[in-house]
Amino acid sequence: MGRTILTGIKPTGQIHLGNYIGAIKPALDLAVLPGYKSAYFVADYHGLTQIHNAEEFRQLSYGIAATWLALGLDPEKVVFYRQSDVPDIFELNWILSCFSSKGLMNRAHAYKASVERNKNSEKDQDFGVNMGLYNYPILMAADILMFKTEVVPVGKDQVQHVEIARDIAEVFNHTYGETFLLPEYKIQEDTAVLPGLDGRKMSKSYNNTIPLFEEPKKLLKLINKIKTDSLPPEAPKDPEHSPIFMLYKEFASEIEVEQMKEQYLTGISWGDAKKELFNVMNRFLEEPREKYNELMSSPEKIDEILREGAEKARSITTPFLKEIKSKVWIYV
Ligand code: ADP
Ligand code: TRP
Repeated sequence: MGRTILTGIKPTGQIHLGNYIGAIKPALDLAVLPGYKSAYFVADYHGLTQIHNAEEFRQLSYGIAATWLALGLDPEKVVFYRQSDVPDIFELNWILSCFSSKGLMNRAHAYKASVERNKNSEKDQDFGVNMGLYNYPILMAADILMFKTEVVPVGKDQVQHVEIARDIAEVFNHTYGETFLLPEYKIQEDTAVLPGLDGRKMSKSYNNTIPLFEEPKKLLKLINKIKTDSLPPEAPKDPEHSPIFMLYKEFASEIEVEQMKEQYLTGISWGDAKKELFNVMNRFLEEPREKYNELMSSPEKIDEILREGAEKARSITTPFLKEIKSKVWIYV
């Protein structure tokens, strides 16, 4: 399928504005890069390491798929699928696990962070660690290597996982000859880190997020909660250090941004600045929100799109898995 860009999102939380600006938008831009094919997927089996409530898991999984589609992912152009619909990945997962040293998994950061937390609270070092979490990097390597992926757009926290995928691929290639392509990660260095309600990085771990598809009334309420200083309306304000301005910049036109900067310098009340922010954000979100709600109320449409995507995915993975199996001599 040519040079491949691949990324997955695990359904473990509600998508917020930071996820959109930092991950989804850049991935959608990459998806139309000439000369490349993109494969984007819902990493549901990665989500299962964390979410053990079936109804919540179902909602979150559909939510990720509907978010991509509502924001403009074209399933005709991108191979768009649910990870669990492509069993070849899980066969490869096992094969790769036989070439992955346990020590490599001990060094993976999510596992290491759990061990550290347990040590600090004097619990058994593996308390709360399931084997899914422990093997997480191997499944991610299977996701990536199964498609001969060249570029993996990810957040900084996932860089180590792409490096692990390279390591595992190298071990296999060394043993059986060139088989897997060594993937490269692409982190979005140039995209803004969106501030949340309290001015810190917007993150579900800080409980300071604005969910992407919040209803307008709630959206306005949340925007009104953004922390500001106590400068009076007429006082000049510094746009560069204002979370409201940073958010505004992501959704307004260039002219609007210039005008807002002027207003900051000559004095604008925080109330008015927040109103303006709501207007540009809501203008952008209106259409995708409608599409999102529509999709979420007819999940069978999402299923159909994902099923077709999985078929396309399997037409790539099945022949490659056969090749891999015959190399190690598993009967095919
Ligand atoms: P969270 O911090 O809410 O747990 P994740 O770690 O699941 O979010 O992030 C998923 C993706 O969204 C990553 O690629 C990450 O870089 C991006 N992202 C998350 N929060 C922000 C933010 N505030 N600004 C820009 N990008 C973000
Ligand atoms: N681990 C990634 C995350 O937490 C999600 C993911 C699973 C992924 N498989 C992948 C990302 C393959 C890129 C490529 O964000």
